[in-house]
Amino acid sequence: MVRAVAVAHPNIALVKYWGKRDTALNLPAVPSLSLTLSRFHTRTEVTWGAEADRVVFNGADADTETARKVLATLDRLDRARPPCLVETVNSFPSAAGLASSASGFAALVLAAAAAAGNDLPREQLSVLARQGSGSACRSLWGGFVEWKLGDRADGTDSHGVPVAPADHWDVRMVVGIVSGNKKPVGSTDGMDRSRRTSPYYDRWVRLGPERVAAGRDAVLRRDLEALGTVMESSTFEMHATMHTSVPPLIYWLPGTVACLHAVQALRRGGIGAWATMDAGPNVKVLCLGSDAESVAAALSPHVDRVEILSPGGDPTVEVLG
Ligand code: PMV
Repeated sequence: MVRAVAVAHPNIALVKYWGKRDTALNLPAVPSLSLTLSRFHTRTEVTWGAEADRVVFNGADADTETARKVLATLDRLDRARPPCLVETVNSFPSAAGLASSASGFAALVLAAAAAAGNDLPREQLSVLARQGSGSACRSLWGGFVEWKLGDRADGTDSHGVPVAPADHWDVRMVVGIVSGNKKPVGSTDGMDRSRRTSPYYDRWVRLGPERVAAGRDAVLRRDLEALGTVMESSTFEMHATMHTSVPPLIYWLPGTVACLHAVQALRRGGIGAWATMDAGPNVKVLCLGSDAESVAAALSPHVDRVEILSPGGDPTVEVLG
């Protein structure tokens, strides 16, 4: 029996992933670019060689679907594995509007590989995390990370690649929590609906590579206006694809729209702030560290809660013996 523990942070996409070219392998139709966040994290402990398989999430047995996905990830790591105990705790509420599945699967693959004594390169761990939850493949690194589209049929070249570390740039993500309720349509079903029914889906897929190239370039040059502009384009192109699905996928609430107007008003007032949303109503605003308090104040009348988050570092892993 060996135990290992890993801690990983969630990430927010600056250039979005929406759509799969292979559902079984969880291969994306578009590349994406993200920022790993500090402070919030998932801590996962894996005991390799337990009495029976068991998945504990925030102190209670995980629901059947979560447990199935977690154990499938361990099976992919080692088909002949012993029974395992997986204990996961999120330092942030799952309903915070941040992708806990990203930090969750990143921490899981790191802890499981370490407990199994399997010294896999981080790219391979990223491939494993991707199969659990697409965006998780980006949480294997801190700072700015690109998820490569890859072109191999088996998906071994579709994984995260670090673009710049957390200390590259003093930016913030100001997260406005409009609602903590669970999303009405999950991302896998939503992506499938958009692929099948949105007349804009093909255009969305064709634009992906140039959006990521522009985003990566803006990160490397520390050009906030260029990054913010491409982030908003990617966000609104993704939501246009969602809105034109049949039936439409409308993740926004009135508070979402109020935040978008507040961000435009900030820019008119000379503050560099740009918005992004995922498959949910919450608004995340990219700005410089020096503007974060003003951005939080502008969002607060429209949201339940505001969180100011800095770029986060690499995940960590430790074998406990
Ligand atoms: O990784 P998933 O299946 O939770 O999908 C994430 C999709 C978006 O959050 C909408 C965009 C992204 O790139 O994270």
